[in-house]
Amino acid sequence: MSAENASAAAAVAAYLHQHETKGLLRFITCGSVDDGKSTLIGRLLYESKGLFEDQLAALDKDSRRHGTQGDDIDYALLLDGLAAEREQGITIDVAYRFFSTDKRKFIVADCPGHEQYTRNMATGASTADVAVVLVDARKGLLTQTRRHSYIVSLLGIRHVVLAVNKMDLVGYDQAVFDAIVAGYRELAEQLGIDHVTAIPLSALKGDNLLQRSPNTPWYQGTSLLGYLESVEPGARGAALGFRLPIQWVNRPNQDFRGFAGSIAAGAVKPGDEIVALPSGRRSKVVRVIGAQGDQETGVAGQAITLTLADELDISRGDVIAAAQQPPQVADQFAAHVLWMGEQRLLPGRPYWLKIGTRTVSASVTEIKHKVDVNTQEQLAAKHLELNEVGYCNLYLDHAIAFEAYADNRELGGFILIDRQTNATVAAGTIDFALRRAGNIHWQHVDVDKAARARSKAQAPRCVWFTGLSGSGKSTIANLVEKRLHAMGHHCYILDGDNVRHGLNKDLGFTDEDRVENIRRVAEVARLMVDAGLIVLVSFISPFRAERRMARELFEPGEFVEVFVDTPLEVAERRDVKGLYAKARAGRIPNFTGIDSPYEAPERAELVLDTVQETPEALAQQVIARLLD
Ligand code: ADX
Repeated sequence: MSAENASAAAAVAAYLHQHETKGLLRFITCGSVDDGKSTLIGRLLYESKGLFEDQLAALDKDSRRHGTQGDDIDYALLLDGLAAEREQGITIDVAYRFFSTDKRKFIVADCPGHEQYTRNMATGASTADVAVVLVDARKGLLTQTRRHSYIVSLLGIRHVVLAVNKMDLVGYDQAVFDAIVAGYRELAEQLGIDHVTAIPLSALKGDNLLQRSPNTPWYQGTSLLGYLESVEPGARGAALGFRLPIQWVNRPNQDFRGFAGSIAAGAVKPGDEIVALPSGRRSKVVRVIGAQGDQETGVAGQAITLTLADELDISRGDVIAAAQQPPQVADQFAAHVLWMGEQRLLPGRPYWLKIGTRTVSASVTEIKHKVDVNTQEQLAAKHLELNEVGYCNLYLDHAIAFEAYADNRELGGFILIDRQTNATVAAGTIDFALRRAGNIHWQHVDVDKAARARSKAQAPRCVWFTGLSGSGKSTIANLVEKRLHAMGHHCYILDGDNVRHGLNKDLGFTDEDRVENIRRVAEVARLMVDAGLIVLVSFISPFRAERRMARELFEPGEFVEVFVDTPLEVAERRDVKGLYAKARAGRIPNFTGIDSPYEAPERAELVLDTVQETPEALAQQVIARLLD
């Protein structure tokens, strides 16, 4: 390397080091193109880019010639800020831009402002510390201002800049500015946004963007960039004890067992008493190991590995916390849910819930109300559509360590993931645990399923017949029961039409009612299997998600899915109950196969072809499968 190159490389290294050690501020801009948002972001980027690009051009040249890791460093600068999204697995499209000044580096999430992009905005807001809410000085506060501010408050951003733009077009009139600010302060108070900084701007002319403008002598505050460079959003969870969601367990050999993750709150040092959650087992910290080796302390935001004095069974997804000040553990919550899925949220349907490093199965047990994002009015709701916000009760199949979102974003914020498509379908914020969760315990009984099955001399089963209306489910189930009964077995048929006369008579045929219909009958079937019976369930059960939910209630091998595979034309031609004719005439809405979907099983244990075979032969196939 020549002397010239060496000094250039040193300068670049120094520059990058400065960048690496500079603080990072993440912010979101809310507003529409009409408000001048692009101009504003463009200017901020442009002004900082000069500095940035000179250095990177040198770096680029140097790295190409000498193979330093120039490109990688740039990449890392960007990525350390985006790690949160990757860890959360959020896949909703948001444009992130990166820029840097002498004082700080910034990641700005630039989200479109229309209502149909609410989910994008929420994604951007979920990791931002500050929101810049743009308002056109000529138009003042609009419905979208309220909506943006609501989402900002919902996602826990406490510092808002009210950027009153286009002041040049109102003659830099202080009265216009003051009126808008007064209106906004009222709104912010309603929404619980504590810190509002209002700045009169002209992004186009550059007023108060980078420096204070002589055009607004009545304004004493800082420029927008000055604000962004100096605002201290405050370390989140500063008042909380130590929390480490475990990302992985590092066990290179018998002698070393380390628990690795990023500290979500608080600090830790060797000797500290900790508790592992949800198990509640306690121990003491022996070593705190960081990137450079052993450390005296680890603080929020750092990636560390802990070793403990005792052998505790801790795995990915658990949380290690300060023993004196641990987070709560529960399996039921009240939470706000912002729905991001193209298909609506259906209460009762299981989704994956990811919180911190933990993933569990969860379902919404009740939508208490939905919130109109424009007015914050509370409305009754049976389901949530794309971009709607609901206040919901959630039930998880495992207890988890958590904190209210207001106290800790890492342990209070979650996403829901569709179990079939793996798409992120919701972002949620935990409010509190439902008290009933802790007050109901499982009552132990001495006579168990095995004992009951023994006395009946049979293996309990749930035989789940699914297929279109009129496919032949009930006919075949009936034959199966008759034969099993004749052989001395103890059976019971749960038939859709019959159960809908009693237990489920409050349910109709909307998607949400069908989900609940299947949830209830699956629970009843589970009780019957627990009682030692062979249960024959004969329900259309049109959705894969609910059949899977039913399957998961049972032990391996207990659940036998039987697809009664009758094509729609055949079922319709037979039309045993005359329902298809009525449905075609428009007299039965939401009829399966006509205007409500049927999702055929992909991995049924048995597929019965009712076109080729007789019901008797098919019943025999089921019995053979059960008794083999
Ligand atoms: S499910 O879809 O929720 O599983 P279930 O098996 O309980 O349906 O009930 C289906 C029976 O209800 C059908 O066999 C038919 O007799 C009757 N029925 C009435 N309306 C409908 C409808 N809209 N769609 C399907 N079946 C209907």
